[in-house]
Amino acid sequence: MTNNQHPTTTRQPLAVNRPPSHRILVTGGAGFIGSNIAGALLRLDNVELVRVLDNLATGHLKNLKEFEANPKFEFVEGDIRDFSTCQKACDGIDLITHQAALGSVPRSINDPVTTNSVNIDGTVNVFFAAKEAGINKVVYACSSSTYGDSPYLPKREDVTGKPLSPYAVTKLVNELYADVFSRFYNINFIGLRYFNIFGPKQDPNGAYAAVIPLFIKAILEESPPTINGDGLTSRDFTYVDNAVQANIKALFTKKVAALNQVYNIATNERTTLLELFDYLKILTGSQMDPIHGPERLGDVKHSLADISKAMNYLEYVPEVKIKEGLRRTFEWYKSAIYKDFFRQEKSKEEVPL
Ligand SMILES: NC(=O)c1ccc[n+]([C@@H]2O[C@H](COP(=O)([O-])OP(=O)(O)OC[C@H]3O[C@@H](n4cnc5c(N)ncnc54)[C@H](O)[C@@H]3O)[C@@H](O)[C@H]2O)c1
Repeated sequence: MTNNQHPTTTRQPLAVNRPPSHRILVTGGAGFIGSNIAGALLRLDNVELVRVLDNLATGHLKNLKEFEANPKFEFVEGDIRDFSTCQKACDGIDLITHQAALGSVPRSINDPVTTNSVNIDGTVNVFFAAKEAGINKVVYACSSSTYGDSPYLPKREDVTGKPLSPYAVTKLVNELYADVFSRFYNINFIGLRYFNIFGPKQDPNGAYAAVIPLFIKAILEESPPTINGDGLTSRDFTYVDNAVQANIKALFTKKVAALNQVYNIATNERTTLLELFDYLKILTGSQMDPIHGPERLGDVKHSLADISKAMNYLEYVPEVKIKEGLRRTFEWYKSAIYKDFFRQEKSKEEVPL
C-alpha cells in the first residue's frame, strides 16, 4: 500500500492518551515493604497486573488479604531459590520490584547459610529469570548495612565501608550482581538502599522483629522494652510510604541517567533509640521506661543518609517524617488488624540469639 491509499474500514481511535499498562512482579510481596508496594501499585491506573511471588518464610497471607478480590492481583506461592519458579513468575511481566530476602543482622549471624542462599542465590535467580523473560527493568531492595564500618555521616552512595555482618555481605553482593548483569545483558537495574523502614504490616513477632514494632508492642502490652546498649545508637528511620514512593518512581522513571544506580532511601533525619522511645511515650501517653541490655553484635552505631541523589535523579521526596510516620504506625497497630497480628504469638522462626 502506498502513502495515498487508505483503507476504507472505520478507524479505531488511537490509544495515544492511554498510559501504557504494566504487569509488575513484586517478589517478597507478602512481607512488610513488599505488601505496601503491592497495595500502592494496585491503585495505579497504568498497572494492569500485580503478581506477588513469596514463600511466606517471614511474610504473611494476611498482608495480602485486602487485595484478594482485586482482579489485577495474583499470588504465586514459591521460593526464589528455585529458578523455574522465578521463570514462571516472570512470565508476561514487564517490570519487577525485588523485595524477597531474609532480613535481620542477627538472623544472618545465627544462620549465614540460609541468608546467603536466599539473598544471593535467590536474587541471582530473579535477575537471570528477568533477563531470560526479556524484562527491561528490575528495581531491587538494597540496604544501608552496606555502609558497614564507614565512619562518614551522612552516608553517600559512593563511599561505603566493610560490611559488618553476613546480611550486609549479601546485600552488597546483590548490588555487584546488578552492576555486572546490566553490563552483559539488556536489562536495567535500580537499587534502593533502605534505611530502617517502619510502618503498617511490619511484623512485631519473632526473634528478629525490628525496633519500632517491638517498642510499640511493648507499650501496648505495658511491658518495658529492652534497648540494646546505651540507647544512643542512631538511625535514619524511614516511614514505609517513602520507600513505596521510591519504588514507584524507580519503576516508572524514563530518565536514562537514573538507571543502573543505587540510591539511599531515607529521610535525612537522625534519631537515637532513646529519642525514638520518647516520641512514642509522648504519642501514646505511656510512662514506661526501657530496660538496657548489651550492645548488639554486627550493628552499626550511627546511620544517617544523604538523600540528594534520589531526590535529583528519581525526584524522590520523603513526604512523611518520623513523628507523623510513628503516629500512623501506632494507629495501625492499635487497629483491628494489629490485634490479628498479635494472635499469632509464636513465630515460626523463634530462634534464640
Ligand atoms: N525493613 C527494613 O528496614 C529494611 C532495610 C533495608 C533493606 N530491607 C530489605 O527490604 C526487603 C523487604 O524487607 P521487609 O522489611 O519487608 O522484610 P519482610 O521479611 O517483611 O519481607 C521479605 C519477604 O520476602 C519473603 N521471602 C523470604 N525468603 C523468600 C524466598 N526464598 N522466596 C520467596 N520469598 C521469600 C518473605 O516471606 C517476606 O514476605 C528485603 O530485601 C530487605 O533485605 C529492609
